[in-house]
Amino acid sequence: MSDPVRVLTTLAKALSALGLYQAGHPARERAVDVAFEELVRLQRSDPHAQFSFLGDEVVYGQAALREMGAWDWGRKLAGAGIQRLELVNVVSREEYAEFLDDVVARLAMAAAPSTVESRPGRRQSIRFGAIGIRGDAQIKEEPRETAPGSRIAYDLGAEADAVRWMHDEVATRGELPLLEAEAVVRSLAVAMHGDSQMVLPLVQMKEFDQYTTTHSLNVSVLTMALAEHLRLSAGDVRTFGVAGLLHDLGKVRVPKDILVKPGKLTEAEREVMQRHPVDGARLIVASDKNLDLAAVVAYEHHIMLDGGGYPKPHYGRGCHHASELVHVCDVYDALRTNRPYRAAWESERVLAYLDERAGKEFDPKIARSFIEMVRGWDQRVATAGGKAATEPATT
Ligand SMILES: [Fe+2]
Ligand SMILES: [Fe+2]
Repeated sequence: MSDPVRVLTTLAKALSALGLYQAGHPARERAVDVAFEELVRLQRSDPHAQFSFLGDEVVYGQAALREMGAWDWGRKLAGAGIQRLELVNVVSREEYAEFLDDVVARLAMAAAPSTVESRPGRRQSIRFGAIGIRGDAQIKEEPRETAPGSRIAYDLGAEADAVRWMHDEVATRGELPLLEAEAVVRSLAVAMHGDSQMVLPLVQMKEFDQYTTTHSLNVSVLTMALAEHLRLSAGDVRTFGVAGLLHDLGKVRVPKDILVKPGKLTEAEREVMQRHPVDGARLIVASDKNLDLAAVVAYEHHIMLDGGGYPKPHYGRGCHHASELVHVCDVYDALRTNRPYRAAWESERVLAYLDERAGKEFDPKIARSFIEMVRGWDQRVATAGGKAATEPATT
């Protein structure tokens, strides 16, 4: 057995042990010890080992690990948003144990969403995330015929934590943790397709200052759902999802008292607020050149079809398709949410508003597709006697 194969097999055994035994049980510690020993051995010869899990294929560096042909953990890890695993620096046992806990939490979340709490990964030495979501469609997925859905009680607490942490990182260090952003989107995509129910995994904020976090998650989910509804490729769906997640990133630069102000903004405050598209685009471009679409969307998401909105001037050119999708989803989620200055609107009222603004603010085809999609869920769920399909779940 080669070193990378031993690392993966002992990793899987440790994950099983962590899933089976309570904290502090000797079997857990032993399994982690063994897995860590193998990791140390591998890092001696390959300090920056990289693994990818693609369907049944396990890739180590650039080569497929043929010995892992019958290993079913690759699919499980990919399903939990871990398609890529990279060792960035020498990994300590503590970090490896923390990483394993995180993976167990993600695996449990994919299976039983409402029971898990996990912290976003803050390790410097191990990184993981999804691949193929930068528009290059490395992962082939079957087109889906059915509407995306998930449980109404879907708990996106881990994702909300990750987004909050991501915003803190951007605010304090000016750097966007891309792998975590991608992992969040992958995880949201898993949630969307989690089971056969017809409900979108939207979240509801507990505090007004959580608005940007929950709103980012919801806009990402809605944008991916709309992109699927419009039958875009799997690669585009994920890329648009990342753009949706990051569309308001520039708000990390807006002072909190303006963000949560209960009354109308003054002219000066409005000016500060309206800088967030430009600031967001700059932050994204400075962080990663592969995120150019997300930067475009951050810049354009408040520009209206008829040239209204901000920033100006727009040189008379149309916005990117992704920006038009995000724009509709952005307004829908904003109006469906309680804000300090107004109560949330009912879904149908928001849909009527979008319809009325189609052709002026929104691209009419995209707005009408969105309305059709949301009405479809709302009606199916009403028929089934449940709550509205887009009723936000609590985090
Ligand atoms: Fe915005
Ligand atoms: Fe927004």
